[in-house]
Amino acid sequence: MVTLSPELKARLSQPLKIGHVEVNSRVLQSPLSGVTDLVFRRLVRRYAPESMMYTEMVNATGLHYVKQLPIIMEVDPNERPISIQLFDCRPDFLAEAAQKAVAEGADTVDINMGCPVNKITKNGGGSSLLRQPELAAEIVRSVVEAVEVPVTVKTRIGWTEKEINILDFARRMEDAGAKMITVHGRTRAQGYNGSAKWEWIAKVKEVLSIPVIGNGDIFSVESAVRCLELTGADGIMCSRGTLGYPFLVGEIDHFLKTGEEKPPLTPVERLECAREHLQMLWEYKGDRGVRQARKHMTWYSKGFMGAADLRGQLSVIENVHQGLDLIDTAITRLNQSGWQVEAEPELVAL
Ligand SMILES: Cc1cc2nc3c(=O)[nH]c(=O)nc-3n(C[C@H](O)[C@H](O)[C@H](O)COP(=O)(O)O)c2cc1C
Repeated sequence: MVTLSPELKARLSQPLKIGHVEVNSRVLQSPLSGVTDLVFRRLVRRYAPESMMYTEMVNATGLHYVKQLPIIMEVDPNERPISIQLFDCRPDFLAEAAQKAVAEGADTVDINMGCPVNKITKNGGGSSLLRQPELAAEIVRSVVEAVEVPVTVKTRIGWTEKEINILDFARRMEDAGAKMITVHGRTRAQGYNGSAKWEWIAKVKEVLSIPVIGNGDIFSVESAVRCLELTGADGIMCSRGTLGYPFLVGEIDHFLKTGEEKPPLTPVERLECAREHLQMLWEYKGDRGVRQARKHMTWYSKGFMGAADLRGQLSVIENVHQGLDLIDTAITRLNQSGWQVEAEPELVAL
């Protein structure tokens, strides 16, 4: 059982202040490319109505050359608070993109300075900015000048183990006008391997005045509390822990506000959510939504006898009805037999 210390409760009892934007939750849903579209955020927000959420990252250069906004930038007028995340290395294009993001309804604009993917870093974006701190600062200054809403940065602790420069980098971001920084406690070289080094988040918190959000390896209420206690961070951001589990942000938020842990969801409850997710993606994006739903469906199908078979079937669905039928059959089976935990919990590849 996890306990919420009075010190932690008191420390987090005030709203998170991102510049002039106040957020009544210290738990944030991270930007996840290919995942955090409007549909996914709607599910997360059902359990975490006050949390800050992020769109998938949007390419600022791409935005410069198109008339119509990409679907990943779409924001529901009722979803608040919402941040639109941008990536690029050109200050002018990022400033222009930020203005479009604000026009679309963004409460804050976040700049991605952490993405490790080659396609992004070889063009100077994402985590490669950690190696160009002056350019990164210029980007922040340029975006801050272009928009009224707070500008934030999400980054890693360095390029490699030998080049951990997050303290100097974070200070530069604050000096350039960033109103919050999220630190993923891994280097670019680590990708998503090894564990997040939360001790660096603690060091960043010591040297900055703006809010610092801890990110990396938050998979449960317990890890969230441990990260907050160890780092002194102003909040935490959930990422892979929310894949197939859009309840995580809400569960942690509820715990931090009340000190009570919600009971874990049953496989049937998770499959019911999967069903709704599939249906919503289909309604929103048609057949493309169904193809995107395959990976989500496999993430939901874990932790009960027969889950591996179900995952195999859901990973190749051709249309929405096939997916809904498979899920309905699994739900009926689980309801009839009671569910049993899988003998060997299997790792689901991302
Ligand atoms: C599938 C996937 C997509 C991601 N997309 C983004 C993104 O668009 N923008 C971003 O800043 N980080 C992105 N990330 C990184 C996460 O937001 C987060 O920083 C990272 O997964 C570490 O947290 P975790 O260990 O809790 O997963 C992505 C990660 C994954 C696994």
